[in-house]
Amino acid sequence: MNLQDIIKTAGILVADDKGLLAMDESNDTCNSRFAEFGIPQTQDYRRSYREMIITTPGLGESISGVILYDETIRQQMKDDTPFVKAITDAGIIPGIKVDTGAKDMAGHQGEKITEGLDGLRDRLHEYFLMGARFAKWRAVLTVGYGKPSRGCIEANANTLARYAALCQEAGLVPIVEPEVLMDGSQTIEQCFEVTEEVLRTVFNQLYRQRVTIEGLLLKPNMVLPGLTCPKQESVDEVADVTIECLLRAVPAAVPGIVFLSGGQSGELASARLNAMNVRFKSHLPWALSFSFARAIQQQAMEIWNGKESNQQAAQQALLNRVRCNRAARKGKYNETMEKTQI
Ligand code: G3H
Repeated sequence: MNLQDIIKTAGILVADDKGLLAMDESNDTCNSRFAEFGIPQTQDYRRSYREMIITTPGLGESISGVILYDETIRQQMKDDTPFVKAITDAGIIPGIKVDTGAKDMAGHQGEKITEGLDGLRDRLHEYFLMGARFAKWRAVLTVGYGKPSRGCIEANANTLARYAALCQEAGLVPIVEPEVLMDGSQTIEQCFEVTEEVLRTVFNQLYRQRVTIEGLLLKPNMVLPGLTCPKQESVDEVADVTIECLLRAVPAAVPGIVFLSGGQSGELASARLNAMNVRFKSHLPWALSFSFARAIQQQAMEIWNGKESNQQAAQQALLNRVRCNRAARKGKYNETMEKTQI
């Protein structure tokens, strides 16, 4: 695969103020989200739910790429059209989650290492033939006493870099996702320190593994206080601290940063992304975008509730959410957009 094609795809994924929609929950994760709303946890309900998402009229005006899961990329719509074709026809690039999950890390109690490198070359080749043009791999880092350990950071960074090298070999843009979790009582300063160390280590490993930086996207956490930290900084403070951290650790050659939402509400994730673009967009080397799952899907899933009769209302909620995020990319989001159809 021509590296120029990969670089071009990475650019398209962050062009025109569009962003990514992550709908790559594993079956277990999707089922547990369904369980919260009493939706039956079957393969067919997961299929119908994903069909509802990708058939949302106008989705492609705000979304450049969707991240699928192995089950979903092999599925068809009710009328037998393959999901990948429906997505591509909507002007959206299909992507695929390729890690096989974060597992307990030996010798590192309470820490995780993401698995999935075995056989990855063959799986990437198959996904490329199925139409995927980018991939995603998520590492998770927990903040706590002595955590994340240097061993956990290094092992995950090396794994992310080896995954990224294999993606580029297979013609796919790697999305590199080292997520520092929000759980815990850590301060924003502690999150900053951990995020900076993690990102510096990841980019060092990407360099060592000969990954072309212009042909990848970074999917980091925003720099936030832990969920149970008594001090919760304002939207503008979060924007300032997040950008300060990213400017220190992310090379200018990266074409785009696509944040994960990590459990933030849809409104807060949009407001924080908006503040970053309002305050810094004109002098940043990379595009600042989104690759949210929960912060885009949550309300739509609740409204859909497994019933076809709710489809239109759920799609409207989804559309409103992605439009809010597109506006946030331009620094033009405001709270009134939450109440009105844009
Ligand atoms: O890997 C995680 C997803 O792609 C992003 O999910 O926005 O709910 O954190 P999230």
